[in-house]
Amino acid sequence: MTSRDIRQKYIEFFVKKGHKEIAPVPLVLEDDSTTLFTSSGMQPLVPYLKGQSHPEGTKLVDSQPCLRLEDIDEVGDSRHTTFFEMLGNWSLGEYFKKEQLSYFWEFLTEELKLEREKLYVSVFEGGSGVGKDEETVKIWKSLEVPEDHIYFYGVKKNWWSRTGTPDKMPPGEIGGPDSEVFYEFTQVKHDPKYGEKCHPNCDCGRFMEIGNCVFIQYVKKEEGTLEELAQKNVDFGGGLERITAAVGDQPDVFGVDLFEGLIKQIETDTDREYAGENKQTMRIIADHMRASTFLIINGVIPSNKMQGYVLRRLLRRSAVKIQKLNPDKIVKVLVETSKKVLENYDGMFGVEKEKQVGLVGEVITTEIERFGKTLDKGLKEVQKIDKINGKAAFDLYQTFGFPLELTEELFREKGQEIKREEFYKEFEKHKELSRTAGIGVFKGGLIADTPKTRKLHTTAHLLQASLRQILGEHVQQKGQNITEERLRFDFSHNSPLSKEEIEKVEKLINEKIEEDLSVSYKTVTLDEAIKEGALGFFKEKYRDTVTVYTIGDPSTRQTRGSLFSREICGGPHVEHTGEIGSVTITKEESAGAGIRRIYIKLL
Ligand code: SER
Repeated sequence: MTSRDIRQKYIEFFVKKGHKEIAPVPLVLEDDSTTLFTSSGMQPLVPYLKGQSHPEGTKLVDSQPCLRLEDIDEVGDSRHTTFFEMLGNWSLGEYFKKEQLSYFWEFLTEELKLEREKLYVSVFEGGSGVGKDEETVKIWKSLEVPEDHIYFYGVKKNWWSRTGTPDKMPPGEIGGPDSEVFYEFTQVKHDPKYGEKCHPNCDCGRFMEIGNCVFIQYVKKEEGTLEELAQKNVDFGGGLERITAAVGDQPDVFGVDLFEGLIKQIETDTDREYAGENKQTMRIIADHMRASTFLIINGVIPSNKMQGYVLRRLLRRSAVKIQKLNPDKIVKVLVETSKKVLENYDGMFGVEKEKQVGLVGEVITTEIERFGKTLDKGLKEVQKIDKINGKAAFDLYQTFGFPLELTEELFREKGQEIKREEFYKEFEKHKELSRTAGIGVFKGGLIADTPKTRKLHTTAHLLQASLRQILGEHVQQKGQNITEERLRFDFSHNSPLSKEEIEKVEKLINEKIEEDLSVSYKTVTLDEAIKEGALGFFKEKYRDTVTVYTIGDPSTRQTRGSLFSREICGGPHVEHTGEIGSVTITKEESAGAGIRRIYIKLL
């Protein structure tokens, strides 16, 4: 069975069970400022898991391309990847544990015909004030899962939220206990290096997690406690690549069809064999090229900021890896591998090979030619350094374009570690790069959903509408970043704002706050949103429905003003602008050619 067959079977299976297939979203959600990448299928569904009604109903299914950087250092073993496809199904307050576990079990054992004896499950043993999940144990037993195939783990393994364990969930974040299914590769012998006894969550490679049933039934409160959600949801996610590996009883995820062609291509172009040490190197290149190709077709360009930095890091790391295999073939390997990626997904997820092959090739070539000029010298420099410190790491970054994480990796190989604080200090001294750009934000990238961040998020909409009224309709949002303390907003405009213009913008926003306009939302098709004049300055998307937030909707009876702002956005927002209080613009500056930046604080 190929990955294509499995993907199709999964969607069809859940459609038969009454689910609606929804369109996956791009890897970069430009209207979701809370995160850098789509890292799980549930991410675009957060508002619906919190209670908003979904236009397609309460039972949904899809396959979603995802990017996770948490495991980047693990890539190269038999099962970790940064880019993967997540098969997902959801119940938005409809069915719960019993149906979910039975459906998934039926899919694995009847549709995919996986051997029952090789399937193991894990259940939440309790923790953080939430009890042991006895109900799930009963259900697994009723499905004839033998007792010795049921394992119990605490919050670290059997709790899921976008930010991890309950203590790491910011206020407003949703999550809950989960139950995972594992496949046992009996041909892999347990390695005692990972512990005396093997078990489903052991890292030796004998077991592979192939699906996670999350029972999203809690929300984190401001006070730090967990509160039951009125709507109890199911959020299932299973990695397609891993499920395909299990179906083929193939313990190496890089052996499945989605990687096979890529690895062969790397072997051919480097003229090296996929064996010994090269195995790990080639796996890393294959993985990073899947991620990079998707990022490029989603509109990301290598840069020193945010998503662009991640793309740069993936491409440059791949270049360094290829350098070891065959230094003359860097660009060729990267370009040819990306073509294979496009081939694998042609016609899916917005991939149109013929149209995109030129763009992807060009982005890779430009980036690597630039890096190639300094790569050799940089690597020689690395060899010369006896003891790495933050300053040397910064110089490698500044002069040779070595992303910090790449330098860290090269020194881990030499048994050295870089003190990140030292690097940051140097970074601070050289103001041309923003600190958020390179470091820190990539592990999770989520911001809290708190009353303050909601207020600032609505302020961003008021700001954009005010700027367009005062400076002109050429103003378009170019970036946004919200912390508890302030809103930072980038927009297209050619000249610095005068004192009067700043005052006018500030005044208009505060007037709209005082008018206490209603903030309402509805889900419509992208076409409808555009027809209604909703702002949403993003490139072509393949998502078919969007949420539109309106401030001062004349059709809402409570509103006291007229329509002021309408934007495509994932929320969340305040319900009335009056909740914001009042705001002040603290700074206006350049953020690059033709782009201005404004900082706003709540008063
Ligand atoms: N959200 C869960 C995960 O990402 C299940 O979909 O694992």
